[in-house]
Amino acid sequence: MNGWKLVYEEFTPQQEALREALCTLGNGYFASRGAAPESSAGGIHYPGTYIAGCYNRLQTQIAGETIENESLVNAPNWLALTFRIEDGDWFDVGNVNVLSYHQELDIKKAILTRTIRFCDPDGRHTRVDQRRLVSIEHPHLAALETSIHAEDWSGSIEVRSALDGQVVNAGVERYRDLNKRHLNSGTAESIADDTFWLEVETSQSRIRIVQAATTRLWRGEQCITPAPAVDQAEGYIAHHYQTRLDPQQPLRIEKIVALYTSRDHAISESGLEARKSVSEAAAFDALASRHIMVWKQLWQRFDFDIEHDDPEEEEKTERTLRLHILHLIQTTSPHVMDLDVGVPARGLHGEAYRGHIFWDELFVFPLFNLRMPEITRALLCYRYRRLNEARRAAQAAGYRGALYPWQSGSNGREESQRLHLNPKSGNWIPDNSRLQRHINAAMVYNIWQYYQVTRDMEFLSFYGAEMILEIARFWSSFTSYNDESKRYEILNVMGPDEYHDAYPHDRRPGLNNNAYTNLMMVWVLLRALELRDILPSQRFSELCQTLNLSKEEFAHWDEVSRRMIIPFHKDEHDNDIISQFEGYEKLTEFDWQDYRKKYGDIQRLDRILEADDDTPNRYKVSKQADVLMLFYLFSSEELGELFAHLGYPFEYETIPRNIDYYLKRTSHGSTLSRVVNSWVLARSNRPGAWPLFAEALDSDVADIQGGTTSEGIHTGAMAGTVDLIQRCFTGIETRGDVLWLNPSLPEGLSSLTLTIRYRQHVLGFHITPSRVRISTEPCAEKPIKIGIVTDVNEFQPGEVREFQL
Ligand code: BGC
Repeated sequence: MNGWKLVYEEFTPQQEALREALCTLGNGYFASRGAAPESSAGGIHYPGTYIAGCYNRLQTQIAGETIENESLVNAPNWLALTFRIEDGDWFDVGNVNVLSYHQELDIKKAILTRTIRFCDPDGRHTRVDQRRLVSIEHPHLAALETSIHAEDWSGSIEVRSALDGQVVNAGVERYRDLNKRHLNSGTAESIADDTFWLEVETSQSRIRIVQAATTRLWRGEQCITPAPAVDQAEGYIAHHYQTRLDPQQPLRIEKIVALYTSRDHAISESGLEARKSVSEAAAFDALASRHIMVWKQLWQRFDFDIEHDDPEEEEKTERTLRLHILHLIQTTSPHVMDLDVGVPARGLHGEAYRGHIFWDELFVFPLFNLRMPEITRALLCYRYRRLNEARRAAQAAGYRGALYPWQSGSNGREESQRLHLNPKSGNWIPDNSRLQRHINAAMVYNIWQYYQVTRDMEFLSFYGAEMILEIARFWSSFTSYNDESKRYEILNVMGPDEYHDAYPHDRRPGLNNNAYTNLMMVWVLLRALELRDILPSQRFSELCQTLNLSKEEFAHWDEVSRRMIIPFHKDEHDNDIISQFEGYEKLTEFDWQDYRKKYGDIQRLDRILEADDDTPNRYKVSKQADVLMLFYLFSSEELGELFAHLGYPFEYETIPRNIDYYLKRTSHGSTLSRVVNSWVLARSNRPGAWPLFAEALDSDVADIQGGTTSEGIHTGAMAGTVDLIQRCFTGIETRGDVLWLNPSLPEGLSSLTLTIRYRQHVLGFHITPSRVRISTEPCAEKPIKIGIVTDVNEFQPGEVREFQL
């Protein structure tokens, strides 16, 4: 192991699904799980290939209802390749006596290798070396190289290379009762000794997916591909090659695959492009060296360097953070700049949450904003294209403006499921999570952050502003005035904490005045109002005209922004606590000790309680940060301003007091929770932040939720941990026209080096506990303002300056 490699030294069937997710390779256009090429879906393996934005809808009868779900489709398995010796069994790592096993994900090169030595039932010893990549240079290409060494035998060998479109979406056990066959089979054809192709079509969205493969057999420098036997069935095609093997020379098999769909740009027809592309593709080594070169360029933008007093801790942290960066880029690489896709909460790495896009973007975008903001821009355009659908949703619900869905997929319709299965009780339960209207605030936050970092006025004026104004309009129509409190309020919503979707004993879902939602709404209205001063006046009047926005409407937004209610209650020391929602104080305290004793792992308390015929709605328990999200998104200065604007008191102590109150009432049932909590704690106690940060880092590599990572990585938690290094420990904030820096390294961390982009400038930071060195690269841009702790300095391009902290 080193800071760039994820290594497994044995084959562990129980760990395989997790490793498949962690060893996924992808390029933003598509990704394939790190499944064994010889495997098919079953109890141990789950080969999955997912194409960004390739969704399909299926209906199922459940609990007497017809429900429709849209899923990111599991595309045909292009990896499929195995062999057999002398008519024996097809090779499968699970069915042989494994003598040694080594699997390695090279994080720097995005290449996965596997070496297995085994002994078969006839006592023959064989070694298999495999390498694979999903090209980051050519988004449509992937390659697998297999070398087979006969150590002590000679004989015949048969190689089977297939494209398997008989796959279904069966990667998540909880969805087993739902229809899962998304692909209809189309043409499959062998067109040369080394080439065959397969076409399938998604059943409802009618996306044609085509894979074309070349399989070439090599002995040394000599290509020896024999004429194959073709094996064909509905949605499946394979070439079988017979040859001989002896200890003198290994057999090398190269499989190169091209993948296209009918959604692609710049194509005539997907089958034609796939065949053309695979016929023109370079061999494995040449593909690999270009792939490594592009990754090297990406790492120059995304890497960082830390020095920790404990070298082991340093290596582990760097490795995990780089693994996170790798998976984030593999999900949303520069190739998404040309695609109509969002960031699925679970990457392109598995089928959890059906590949849907949630508010998790809020945790992902800051990383890209400061490294490659063009990616954020493309992902924000995914939302802009669905603005009309959001308008329709607002209207259908009886409101104005735009209401974005909690879960989004193909066309921006609400994709949240209506029922979900509690695997603990076997019950199908109504899913009210779509009441998380706060997603609309997250969208504005994302646009605003992107704009603060880039000052991309074209984006803001042509896309961002329209979304912000329509969302502000939704919020103002969603509020009502309460004559008693003389304040505005927001009723019937859910906050980020998914454990609370209703008041106890109330059959109707929804809660009133979720503090997070209400405050975010105020912030949104303020940003919408600020647009008047920021946008070029001509564009602003165009927007007012097209959206029919009047002075009175702006005046109303201003009024609501000053008079929104924020609920408070007292803690055990009689201090004011921001209430998660109105009435929170009436809930029962939860017996954490008792439940921990009884159940051990109580991260998913919702499932435990429901199985006990109880509900978290009765208790002061949170799945994840809710009120605490405010301290994650805003600095104390910003919060102070927001509370003052509303006429509520806010003092610095409000932050630690609320952290203390809610943290002990949180079960961390979402991986986002640990990121937020590490962040808020780190902000108030940065020297002591390391242990919590280290815990958040483990979310996926150690699968701390016990089984969720195998169904897909957690993009929010992965990006959030990188962002802890990037923005939290450095204290980077982009506010007004200033890039603020307020470094405070956790104990043990002796230096932090990173390169970011800010308003077209490339900035290098080298931070130690006592000093910060800032360099700006020469460029033709205007000077920028960098604030160090409290002092604002102007930086010209091409400067290096050092500051004492
Ligand atoms: C969390 C949500 C999150 C979703 C997708 C849920 O478990 O509660 O906040 O958006 O997962 O990651």
